[in-house]
Amino acid sequence: MQGTILLVGSGKMGGALLDGWFKRGVNPVDVMVVEPAGRVAVAPCSAHPALTTVPTIEDVPKDFRPDVIVFAIKPQIVDQALPAYRRFVADRPVFLSVIAGKTTDGIRSRLGPAADVVRAMPNTPAAVGKAMTVLYAPPTVSELQRKICNTLMSAVGAVAWITDEAHMDAVTAVSGSGPAYVFLFAEALTAAGVEAGLAPDLAARLAHATIAGAGAMLEQMPDSPETLRRNVTSPGGTTAAALEVLMGENGLMRLFSRAVAAAAARSRELAG
Ligand SMILES: NC(=O)c1ccc[n+]([C@@H]2O[C@H](COP(=O)([O-])OP(=O)(O)OC[C@H]3O[C@@H](n4cnc5c(N)ncnc54)[C@H](OP(=O)(O)O)[C@@H]3O)[C@@H](O)[C@H]2O)c1
Repeated sequence: MQGTILLVGSGKMGGALLDGWFKRGVNPVDVMVVEPAGRVAVAPCSAHPALTTVPTIEDVPKDFRPDVIVFAIKPQIVDQALPAYRRFVADRPVFLSVIAGKTTDGIRSRLGPAADVVRAMPNTPAAVGKAMTVLYAPPTVSELQRKICNTLMSAVGAVAWITDEAHMDAVTAVSGSGPAYVFLFAEALTAAGVEAGLAPDLAARLAHATIAGAGAMLEQMPDSPETLRRNVTSPGGTTAAALEVLMGENGLMRLFSRAVAAAAARSRELAG
């Protein structure tokens, strides 16, 4: 990517992004980080000596004119933190926000109406370069600015775009919160294995490797999950016995439908 980046917040998500950018060849001299603790919470490969980290926006040199400003701070501090970035708006950078629940209008209301804002919802597998990120840009954002945001988020995994920002609540409920559902699934499968008589460490190993292996098949094979499931389900066999429970009237389909609806409703409540 050409151009300069100002990263605001270098915690778990900001740090994962930095890692991804450097692995993709972004030059650390083109990046400045605003991080109050002065630390950059990332893996050692990102702790590059050429990377400049400053504790506040006031410490960013006046002649530093970023092409993109990435907000990776907590939603609770947007009112306090964002107005100071109004000073950049006249230079027309693209503001890329990964802040959960904050709409493009909400971000613009803190920066001023002329700000070009793109919203992204990544998820926690960004930490291992396997994120699923969904992006939204209002029509006023240019093709070049969209491309820049696409490149920056692609550095931590897959990306998709939506054209209706209202869908971001459902996105949050499916892929944003989704990793937690899979972690819970791992916990539940482990506990069930222990109940069935396995030692806890063996049960955990079986559950984790099974989820990772099935995930790799989903990623690498062209077949749908339904086909993959049918391929391992012999009529009258052990898998069929388990699926009869999981796919029963109050089974997984109904549970997921309720869980995703609850998460989407909560996302709408928190939006701003
Ligand atoms: N982590 C994820 O998987 C994930 C997924 C999707 C979206 N997101 C979104 O990404 C954002 C960051 O989440 P996170 O998990 O990375 O949180 P985090 O680990 O707490 O990182 C936030 C960082 O921002 C720093 N910070 C606080 N005030 C600041 C300021 N005024 N200017 C610049 N930096 C400041 C914090 O420093 P201190 O710790 O010193 O306060 C911290 O290092 C959130 O809005 C979240 O919704 C995260």
